[in-house]
Amino acid sequence: MTMTDTELHIFDTTEELYDSALETLRRGLNEHEGNHYRVVLSGGSTPLRLYELILEDGGFDWHKLRIFFGDERTVPPDHPDSNFRAAYETLLDAAPIPNDAIFRMQCELGAEEAARRYEQAIRDEFKLAPGELPRFDLILLGMGADGHTASLFPGTPALEERERLVVPNPVPQLDTTRLTLTFPVLNAARSVLFLVTGSDKAPAVRQALTGDIADRPPAGQVHPTAGRLLWYLDREAAAELE
Ligand code: 6PG
Repeated sequence: MTMTDTELHIFDTTEELYDSALETLRRGLNEHEGNHYRVVLSGGSTPLRLYELILEDGGFDWHKLRIFFGDERTVPPDHPDSNFRAAYETLLDAAPIPNDAIFRMQCELGAEEAARRYEQAIRDEFKLAPGELPRFDLILLGMGADGHTASLFPGTPALEERERLVVPNPVPQLDTTRLTLTFPVLNAARSVLFLVTGSDKAPAVRQALTGDIADRPPAGQVHPTAGRLLWYLDREAAAELE
């Protein structure tokens, strides 16, 4: 497996970071030659400003977009903790994207059934042969202060998953179970874009981007085998990098 070089961008302000992320997404979408541009949205709060900017931007080739999610909390879609709800309220409700181009993790069905259905939806969307992996055009990811990404938390079983595309992942540190895409899916992407801001993330950023790969936290284990890896940081999040 050849490791992709990490493209590291450090921005003076978060607005510059979001503007650059918007441009990266718009360019990827509009220059994409295929009929569908499949994007995985990140959960958490960091990407919400980007989702708002996407909606305000007049330059998106909306009809190509197919929207997926990297992870979800095991709550209904109208729950305050739902990643879908946050993306819906900031982008999906008002964006001209047809419902059948938005693929929600249906956690209200129970974690295992939701994982099974989501994996099948991905297999159907990409027309995957057995053992084949989906190549998402762009996977947006965030990172927690503990170095988790999607819902791949340190010390949790999903970190070891190499066959399934989507799994329920018990997260004892949160006393909950989450649904998450697995490393094989993240590392099969054509491009992965991390958006990380704030001084509280600086130690995890250093751990994720430096040192032996094997010692890195989950976010540092994302290396597309044949794709671009971009990390967009503000100065605060990058403060512990040389
Ligand atoms: C989630 C996300 C998670 C998130 C990080 C960072 O479901 O919470 O997928 O991986 O990206 O926890 O969250 P913030 O952007 O809110 O700091």
